[in-house]
Amino acid sequence: MTTFDPTQPSTTENGAPRESDAHSLSVGADGPLMLHDVALVQKLARFDRERVPERSPHAKGSGAFGEFEVTGDVSQYTKAKFLQPGSKVRTLTRFSTVAGELGSPDTWRDVRGFSTRFYTEDGNFDMVGNNTPVFFIRDPMKFPDFIHSQKRLPDSGLRSQNMQWDFWTLSPESAHQVAYLMGDRGLPRTWRNMNGYSSHTYMWINEAGERFWVKYHFMTNQGVENMTNEEAGKMAGEDADFHRRDLFDSIAEGNFPIWTLKVQIMPYGDAKDYRFNPFDLTKTWSHKDYPLHEVGRLTLNENPTNHYAQIEQAAFSPSNMVPGTGVSPDKMLLARVFSYPDAQRNRIGTNYNQLPVNAPISQTNSYDKEGAMEFQHSGDAPVYAPNSYGRAYQDEEGPVENNWESDGELVRSAYSLHSDDDDFGQAHSLVRGVYSDAERQRLVETVTGGLLDGVEEPVLSNAFQYWKNIDAEVGQAIEDAYHANA
Ligand code: HEM
Repeated sequence: MTTFDPTQPSTTENGAPRESDAHSLSVGADGPLMLHDVALVQKLARFDRERVPERSPHAKGSGAFGEFEVTGDVSQYTKAKFLQPGSKVRTLTRFSTVAGELGSPDTWRDVRGFSTRFYTEDGNFDMVGNNTPVFFIRDPMKFPDFIHSQKRLPDSGLRSQNMQWDFWTLSPESAHQVAYLMGDRGLPRTWRNMNGYSSHTYMWINEAGERFWVKYHFMTNQGVENMTNEEAGKMAGEDADFHRRDLFDSIAEGNFPIWTLKVQIMPYGDAKDYRFNPFDLTKTWSHKDYPLHEVGRLTLNENPTNHYAQIEQAAFSPSNMVPGTGVSPDKMLLARVFSYPDAQRNRIGTNYNQLPVNAPISQTNSYDKEGAMEFQHSGDAPVYAPNSYGRAYQDEEGPVENNWESDGELVRSAYSLHSDDDDFGQAHSLVRGVYSDAERQRLVETVTGGLLDGVEEPVLSNAFQYWKNIDAEVGQAIEDAYHANA
């Protein structure tokens, strides 16, 4: 990048001296403006194009650079270079809310995004996760409908509890995630005070070619802390950018937030007969069956110097993988691998990976060419493969290292059944087994408050039943509290 000299007199975009940053060119002091006032026309035309579209989900967020240092030894499970003992790489992390727009308050109840890019010598590796270990749905065909239900009504442009509860109650696989969202963790105190999860199952491959299924957990060293409904509501009015400000100020003060990366590891062969489908994104794996292994430490220690260039234009994607890692048969994950680069080609532009924040530190050599804003190109080297003129190309055949076996007819179907597959069991364990009495009471108040906010029949009755399916007592308490306050 060229260095910027703030003392250089201002110029037009062709680099010529500018006459004025304050006055447009007119016919006499009071007369009409001139179309050939290049400085004015350029300034307005550029202003008219200052915004790229916001991210479709996860529009509001912010982030910081940092470093990831390996502290454990997982070399027997993966050959990924950035995960080997002694490795330290630069990172970029972005936190976000899912449903709100670019200017929306940080403290609205929502799932939070937790994306980290590792700039490795083998290329960028991105972990694009959330602060919850599960998700609302398990088939990508439903994702656009899910997001539509969280955003705004087509006529009034308002958000709608009725629409949200309609989608959730008709999609019972959402129960586990909704039980998280309505619990205390739906309102993290700061981004520094929440964990991050891959949620999905991914693959690791070791030097010997052995495969493992893994789930990533970024555990906050700051401790998990949450806000109450009252605190969050008040903060939404007082400082819509509270989480963004907290992160920036903490790092500026040298108070660097740290997360410990741990993984659950499942031997490849266990997946077939595990109690439930281990690729189902609505489920967590038992820590008794698959305990956490420490991998390393993520420290955020460098604020962006330009939010737009380094955070808004950052393009995180589950498709950014490196040797020793891979995806899994999770249908949601497989669809995300397509969806993110596609969204980013639209949102930022075809050559978004050439921007400094997205470019890998490793050398690239690809036969993709041209498109808007290309500036890294192959000169006069051949633009096709195979070629006889010395430009490298690859020609591997056979199974890929991060492969799995698959066969069967082409069907539209839920996953095939494992013995413990169901929609409400893990949601019940969370609400009854993990939440304290006080947390359960706050959950009842939060859900009831939502239902009182314009939810109508038949969605209302469906919502009572949905909660009774999760936990009979909690469902009844919600119904009673609703009627007491309606
Ligand atoms: C089929 C399911 C999904 C689809 C199609 C999808 C699609 C998208 C799209 C198009 C974006 C905007 C990307 C951009 O413009 O840069 C996005 C952002 C994001 N998604 Fe998803 N998503 C899905 C599921 C998930 C899941 C399960 C998670 C978490 C485990 C997740 C976490 C995120 C995060 C954290 C961001 C913001 C990334 C950033 O900070 O820039 N998404 N998603």
